[in-house]
Amino acid sequence: MSTIYFPEPFRIKSVEPIKMLTKEERIKKIKEADYNVFNLDSEDVYIDLLTDSGTGAMSTTQWAGVLEGDEAYAGSKSYRALIKSATEIFDFDYIQPVHQGRAAEKILLPILLKNKKYAISNMHFDTTRAHVEIAGARAIDCVVAEALDTTSPYDFKGNMDNARLVELIKELGSENIGTIIITITNNSAGGQPVSMANIKETSSIAKKHKIPVLIDAARCFENAYFIKEREANYNKKSIAEIVKEMFACGDFFTMSAKKDAIVNMGGLVGVRDKKVAELVKQRCISFEGFVSYGGLSGRDLEALAIGLKEGLDENYLQYRIGQIEYLGAKLDKAGIPYQKPTGGHALFVDAGKFLPHIPYNEFPAQALIIELYIEAGIRGCDIGSYMLGNNPDTGEQLKAEFEFARLAVPRRVYTQAHLDVIAQALINIKARVNTIKGYKITEEPPILRHFTAKLKPI
Ligand code: F0G
Repeated sequence: MSTIYFPEPFRIKSVEPIKMLTKEERIKKIKEADYNVFNLDSEDVYIDLLTDSGTGAMSTTQWAGVLEGDEAYAGSKSYRALIKSATEIFDFDYIQPVHQGRAAEKILLPILLKNKKYAISNMHFDTTRAHVEIAGARAIDCVVAEALDTTSPYDFKGNMDNARLVELIKELGSENIGTIIITITNNSAGGQPVSMANIKETSSIAKKHKIPVLIDAARCFENAYFIKEREANYNKKSIAEIVKEMFACGDFFTMSAKKDAIVNMGGLVGVRDKKVAELVKQRCISFEGFVSYGGLSGRDLEALAIGLKEGLDENYLQYRIGQIEYLGAKLDKAGIPYQKPTGGHALFVDAGKFLPHIPYNEFPAQALIIELYIEAGIRGCDIGSYMLGNNPDTGEQLKAEFEFARLAVPRRVYTQAHLDVIAQALINIKARVNTIKGYKITEEPPILRHFTAKLKPI
């Protein structure tokens, strides 16, 4: 008997037309874009899997909330609605809305890293790493070894390597470590979850050494769903209970609400310490806006208050995670390698294995991303050596741990028929895989080059 994937727990009330250009047009467009998908116009993309961030579809309730938004500069009722909703879910003493995840990092990380040398995380997301470095510290990743083997079907590939964490604390000195960051889910390892047991162990190690724990909560509801599905004794608990239990292990949290809270813009900072809360307020007023709006419109606050609750819904999460599982099962049948088991927000095709004839310095994941656009108008992104860039001292191309072509699925946006197109496009590419060539960079800026670099087929 074949698996029945959990279907969409919604029906469609409003649609946004999209169209697929002809293959000739797509070949022309990608050339004009200098083989960089960030240069494509979104109208020229049929299925946009560039990111799951801020690209979700809001519900009728959220859109109704948009009209209800209170745009008062201070004391808006939408602000109170958001604080009520977020406090019920996360149970933190102080919660500050901000405009997105990196704004939360910009506000909080310099406070935690003042006079400190290091932040340690299971894996830092790029912007988190950047803000650790801007605060004058260094970011160290400490993920379990299982994450690095895309073929091993380990349930919690997002986990912190806690044995290594203890060694690192000994080596570096606990007084030099400003924070331990638990990223749930672990985006950079493939949207992979972190188990409750692992979160608790990390938190108790941190407590023992008096190092504060910061939860990077961008996809915390998806992480809770995986705990419920995969970890012993959590099957009977609600997602809300699991979220509370995870957050009880943190002293702080930052959240890009553009993911699991299904809004197009928004973020949160969570704090327990009263003194730090005061510093957060001051920094928020300077960088984001007054505390009761934090860089967001009243309507955004209202949509976020509602989206947080919708993101927790188990039927929705089952459908959401089910979409990625469905895609993964199709790729299994076709023998297409990806980070296994499927994670939360995206399918990470292992382009290093899919295109083994293309070396890392000719960017196999970028080559696959370009082929996906040419094949079916699908836009994903390279999470590999092309994204990683050059060694800042020697200028030499760095070799990434993974060569992932990330296909991030926006929330509540694409149907199962769209997923079939994605799988078929990969299958068609597999049939002509030996004809695919690598790429060479013709122009690049010194940092974050993947957004603006120009490329040429070799
Ligand atoms: N933390 C994680 C784990 C993220 O994945 C992101 C963003 C951020 C922080 C920063 O949040 O974009 O709201 O400022 N990830 C997006 C992505 C951009 O495509 O994976 P932001």
